[in-house]
Amino acid sequence: MSTILIKNGTVVNDDSQQRADVLIKDGIIVDVQYNISVGDGEDVEIVDATDKLVIPGGIDPHTHLQLPFMGMTAVDDFESGTRAALAGGTTMIIDFVIGDKSEGLIKSWQKWRGWADPKVCCDYGLSVAVTKWSPEIAEEMEELTKPEYGVNSFKFFLAYKGSFMINDSEFFEAMQQCSKIGALARVHAENGSAIEKKQQELLALGVTGPEGHTQSRPEELEGEAANRACVLAAQANCPLYVVHVMSKPAAKAIAEHRVKGHVVFGEPIAAGLALDGRGYYDKDWDKAASLVMSPPLSRDPSTPEALMDLLASDQLQVTGTDNCTFQCCQKRQGLNDFTKIPNGVNGLEDQMSIVWEKGVHSGKLSPMRFVAVTSSTAAKIFGCYPRKGRIAPGSDADVVVWDPKRTRVISQSTHHQKVDYNVFEGMRVHGVAEVTICRGKTVWRDGQLSVEKGTGRYVPLSPFNDFVFGTINRKKEMSRPVNVVRDLPSHTLRPAAQEGSKSPRRSLENKDYLADTTNFTRSNQTG
Ligand code: URP
Ligand code: ZN
Ligand code: ZN
Repeated sequence: MSTILIKNGTVVNDDSQQRADVLIKDGIIVDVQYNISVGDGEDVEIVDATDKLVIPGGIDPHTHLQLPFMGMTAVDDFESGTRAALAGGTTMIIDFVIGDKSEGLIKSWQKWRGWADPKVCCDYGLSVAVTKWSPEIAEEMEELTKPEYGVNSFKFFLAYKGSFMINDSEFFEAMQQCSKIGALARVHAENGSAIEKKQQELLALGVTGPEGHTQSRPEELEGEAANRACVLAAQANCPLYVVHVMSKPAAKAIAEHRVKGHVVFGEPIAAGLALDGRGYYDKDWDKAASLVMSPPLSRDPSTPEALMDLLASDQLQVTGTDNCTFQCCQKRQGLNDFTKIPNGVNGLEDQMSIVWEKGVHSGKLSPMRFVAVTSSTAAKIFGCYPRKGRIAPGSDADVVVWDPKRTRVISQSTHHQKVDYNVFEGMRVHGVAEVTICRGKTVWRDGQLSVEKGTGRYVPLSPFNDFVFGTINRKKEMSRPVNVVRDLPSHTLRPAAQEGSKSPRRSLENKDYLADTTNFTRSNQTG
């Protein structure tokens, strides 16, 4: 039981900004208005937000805490990862369940809950990866959308051949299933088969260092896969979310499909908005290896700014981090073979400051758009808005007092993550989380964290979320197969049909021609 009053700040939501105080009671925002006063003698924690912004806590929709991957386990777990998140102003994450292929999806989901619940320091949801396909998996997907599991998105890998990757026909069927059960499909868009071939060629030529990672994954392959995923999703009538958009070709594919009216969202990540891929050629192996992630950072130095421009103009919609951290010594597993370097970078602690610096401080994003891309839009896409992602009465009190003018220098020596490097090392950023309030408790203030592990809660996410599925049923209706009934010239009748059926025309109409007409929508039909 606690009351917090945030005084004299500027409250910023994704659609409005106003001078107001914010009153929080028992974990919920109860009032937002100019000059709130509280009764004498009431036990109230006052937070002064003069000259500061009061914003919804960040939501990172893409994390991999303690993920077992490429023979290693990511070092930042649900405790260190979420503590660091709070220090940076992020108050909710959506982590990916990527279980062992030998166990079912529900078993994997339970394993993740078992890992997260005792440790997690902020609220969290789960998205489940589908790395093999069968009717049983389809059933499990449906089961997972029930309230007791609360999963409304599934992830598919078009990369990591031989481990997580599924093929196009499996991906297509899985997206048809997503459409049926009201779930969002999320995709890692790369061409796993072409990459595998290129990796072998590079290794055979003696290119074994981290520079081989980027050369084996040209950004055209990310663009091809993003386009392929968008085309297949539209054909499956399934809403699509492309994770970690790292290159211009991939972003362009997403933007083009959005223009066509397809339901597709694109997520650039903090690393991709701040860094380019020239670092893969660094003489210092550890430094170059620290950047190894997939898809790789773009070698085109103009990409980070271009991605931010697309975010500003709503051609990309939401930022994440893809936080998946491996220590230097873990990365060294690939010392003689870049294909064995565990993939992943940090970002969870720094993403809010990175997006502020590269977006708002550079004049590309307004503070409202900043709130949209770092918080509200994720809440809308995953169906927890306005409980999350909004400063308004009734919303969870996940609130950050943000100092837009203060600067800090990002460094491994001061960060709260366990990982022993920081890909943003030495970067000076404007925009600092001064105070973080998570579910009504002040957890970060004066540079100090005060939070107990296990206090974060699981947030079940519901299927058929209107923000994502609002047009899907009508699209299905508008594109239903059409069967043209017509009198056929007798010479086109097949002998079997002529002989075997009392009513050959009827049998032809219903059976033989149905498949030929499925590409015609009702609006194409003239008669
Ligand atoms: O390199 C990356 N991105 N590591 C995490 C796993 C994934 O692909 O999202
Ligand atoms: Zn991925
Ligand atoms: Zn990822």
